Amino acid sequence: MYRTHTCGELRISDAGQTVTLAGWAKTIRKFGSITFVDLRDRYGITQLFFNEAMNTLLEAQPLGREYVLEVKGTVIERSNKNLNIPTGEIEIEVKEYRILNASLTPPFTIEDDTDGGEELRMKYRYLDLRRDAVKKNLELRYKVSRAARNFLDSQHFMEVETPMLIKSTPEGARDFVVPSRMHEGQFYALPQSPQLFKQLLMVAGYDRYFQIVKCFRDEDLRADRQPEFTQIDCEMSFINQEDILNTFEAMTKHIFEDVKGITFAEDFPRMPYDEAMRDYGNDKPDIRFDMKLKELNEVVKGKGFPVFDDAALMIGIAAPGCSEYTRKQTDELTDWVKRPQIGMKGLVYIKCNADGTFKSSVDKFYNEEQLKQIAEVCGAKAGDLILILAGEQALTRKAISELRLEMGNRLGLRNPEVFKPLWVTDFPLFEYDAESDRYIACHHPFTSPKPEHLEWMKDKSKFADIKANAYDLVLNGTEIGGGSIRIFQKDIQEIMFDALGFTKEEANEKFGFLLSAFEYGTPPHGGIALGFDRLCALLGGHETIRDYIAFPKNNAGRDMMLDAPGPIDEKQKKELGIG
Ligand code: AMO
Repeated sequence: MYRTHTCGELRISDAGQTVTLAGWAKTIRKFGSITFVDLRDRYGITQLFFNEAMNTLLEAQPLGREYVLEVKGTVIERSNKNLNIPTGEIEIEVKEYRILNASLTPPFTIEDDTDGGEELRMKYRYLDLRRDAVKKNLELRYKVSRAARNFLDSQHFMEVETPMLIKSTPEGARDFVVPSRMHEGQFYALPQSPQLFKQLLMVAGYDRYFQIVKCFRDEDLRADRQPEFTQIDCEMSFINQEDILNTFEAMTKHIFEDVKGITFAEDFPRMPYDEAMRDYGNDKPDIRFDMKLKELNEVVKGKGFPVFDDAALMIGIAAPGCSEYTRKQTDELTDWVKRPQIGMKGLVYIKCNADGTFKSSVDKFYNEEQLKQIAEVCGAKAGDLILILAGEQALTRKAISELRLEMGNRLGLRNPEVFKPLWVTDFPLFEYDAESDRYIACHHPFTSPKPEHLEWMKDKSKFADIKANAYDLVLNGTEIGGGSIRIFQKDIQEIMFDALGFTKEEANEKFGFLLSAFEYGTPPHGGIALGFDRLCALLGGHETIRDYIAFPKNNAGRDMMLDAPGPIDEKQKKELGIG
């Protein structure tokens, strides 16, 4: 037997017992003729005590960090207790030990506060995974998946696997493709999501489906985007939007309760897309803090300030308690909005002084009364700092939305331990893609329009106004889920493909199987997919989903440990017909 107990298990009540433990030597501390070793396994750390006699053996064959040991000994009370760890009142007085395996000195310290940079830790991810901080993240991930599965099982959802080698699914990103050996010159695509399969399962009558599933998207990476990521993918039949929102709100609440012990007593707020864009400048508002966007065109135009007179849109926010910002601080904010990522030409500010007066960067053009009027529109109070951006519509809205988040960060208003979920509803069905000069599906081509807007699908001039039965679940400014009620009638699906610019032939070539399935009794259905990695990262209080994935890719999409992607040999290429 390698072990009778784990390294996290023994307590003072076990004193006197003879036990066997196995694990890794985390630290080795020699004091003259005795040695202490911290033995680590997945469950914790237990201190080993090598007395003089045992120490002589150690000297003959010294231990190194991360050696794998099997140790037999007696549990004794420690004289120097460490009450910070659960096993800190005892130690094992070693009677026998075996080195099960040696280890090279690890390239970084296996501690919460490691000296290893990200690149190095990713290269040796199996060592990084030994660190407590990373282990805790993976434990949380497991708990989230367990809670989701339990909830879905209790609601009669059935997990069904769907294929990984498929034909392209249009979710808006580029596909990863896999060349076929048996069909030279042809390619499979890896699924961007199981979207079409889950709809086909509804046609097949599996009315409550779920799958915790890998999805693959070749897109620009960010802290919350990986090229392969995991979804809690769900679909239901004979439901309407209300049923979906209620079911998955209940699932989210269950996960929070189970994993974090957090109860949401209230229903999640719901906000139409148009309101989110107006008040927050984006479709995933962080509602942990207020600082809403206020359009100022009416109050600032026509006062002789050319920047405002020439711009299409002026928006202000009132940063609470910032009226005493120094010149240096406002200059620094100006530089911040001028960065290429934000792309603004400048920043106008108005200080709402505590005594009720105003001081602004545009005092030359606006008198006290006019500044007061702007402050009123912005909902600013004495002591606030109003920040105004001006420019082209979409760019300005995006920039001020970023500035709002930045001010939220600077003012400590985005506490990761505070959770504010909401549903964003009534998304547009289409969005205009300037690059290709056409309309594309805002969510995906299987999303149904609001019934009252169906007629407009035949009139391109109305496309921008058509709303969809589509919704996102947003948490703390991150989109953690998205879904829709689907089109389930063949003729409407054909109208949709037509609106998206597919010819009949193209639609048949790409989605013939779906259109054909729609002729065999398709029930009304809809669903949602939650971004599992994002949900885990938020629950854990982090922004980077990499920290919650056992073997992630870096920001350039590389697996540093495997050194993938990499070349393949000529023979393989030839077989695949891609040489
Ligand atoms: P959508 O494309 O909105 O919907 O994706 C659902 C959720 O998946 C997460 N997500 C990602 N997470 C990490 N890395 C990525 N690259 C990434 N891309 C998306 C987000 C997102 O909300 N088939 C539809 C769902 C449906 O209609 O039912 C779909 O995939 O949290």
